[in-house]
Amino acid sequence: AFKERVFSGMQPTGSLHLGNYLGAMVNWIEMQKTHECIYCVVDLHAITVWQDPKELKNAIRQVTAAYIASGLDPKKSILFNQSQVPEHAELAWVFNCVARLGWLNRMTQFKEKAGKDRENASVGLYAYPNLMAADILAYRATHVPVGEDQKQHLELARDIAQKFNNDFRDGIVEKGYADGIFFPPPDPVITGPATRVMSLRDGTKKMSKSEPSDMSRINLMDDADAIADKIKRAKTDMEPAPPSGLEELGARPEIDNLVGIYAALAGISKQAALDLLISTATEGPSIYTGLKRALTEVAVARLGPIRAEIIRLMNDPAEIDRILADGSKRARAIAGPIYAEVKDVVGF
Ligand code: ADP
Ligand code: NA
Repeated sequence: AFKERVFSGMQPTGSLHLGNYLGAMVNWIEMQKTHECIYCVVDLHAITVWQDPKELKNAIRQVTAAYIASGLDPKKSILFNQSQVPEHAELAWVFNCVARLGWLNRMTQFKEKAGKDRENASVGLYAYPNLMAADILAYRATHVPVGEDQKQHLELARDIAQKFNNDFRDGIVEKGYADGIFFPPPDPVITGPATRVMSLRDGTKKMSKSEPSDMSRINLMDDADAIADKIKRAKTDMEPAPPSGLEELGARPEIDNLVGIYAALAGISKQAALDLLISTATEGPSIYTGLKRALTEVAVARLGPIRAEIIRLMNDPAEIDRILADGSKRARAIAGPIYAEVKDVVGF
């Protein structure tokens, strides 16, 4: 059995948002207490769609600053950007040759991101899940804290690990892995109060960096006024309270989302958050005024200090670059020897 190890990453595209924070980051910070953790800024993933090179450099630093501002400790955990550790791309190529076209054809995120003009999507966008498998398995990570949208990609990473173990079984056993397990199939860690935060404009779509409307998400870089404005204008509905009772409001997707975000930020159960909505329903011009006020308060209290810390860290880009260089060195010290064995097993 391999030692438990955590790996996860986020793309340096646009500002991190409340979905990234509640869906993944909160677990990242928590897992630092119990595990060896490796957290990556996945810049190779970012360029699967066009990125302005000057903005990309800045975005890498900004996501790094956001990790640290949210509580990631770069002395304890390994914090680095993907492109500085060449084993990610090298192992991804091997996995391009292990994974089957049929497996990738089933990936729903590619279908969503490529949209109607699929012929014009980059090959990298299509092969993205193989690179993600390499990110994880380059370190033999056993636990991957992510949001619910990544579940299918994690299943693919498990399939790749298993097929690699089968395809190269003889060499793997010869290397001393008596049980034939070279890559342990990684477990997704999809837990916590908000594994799928939805858009503020459409309760059926997830909150995302790639959503065109900035009003659809709360960014870690939003100031108190922007947060208040977005929550105030968050889509609810014009309908009066359902005749069957206010309890029913929780079944409406946009309301369920606001209740869920409030519960996650306040550290209370969804039922307690719904109770607050019900008990304040008569306070304001709309039945949601009380909930939105409470949500704004707790969001500003939680994100304000993070934003201030990101701004402070961004004043010293050289220090951020130094942290990334140091993390890359520590990451390579783990990935290098594993990839050297991969080469042997594959036969080069
Ligand atoms: P995005 O989808 O906004 O571009 P990434 O693909 O970089 O963000 O995802 C980074 C992490 O944040 C992943 O673990 C992903 O599952 C999580 N995540 C992204 N959006 C959400 C969301 N709306 N709710 C919960 N988790 C999310
Ligand atoms: Na995503």
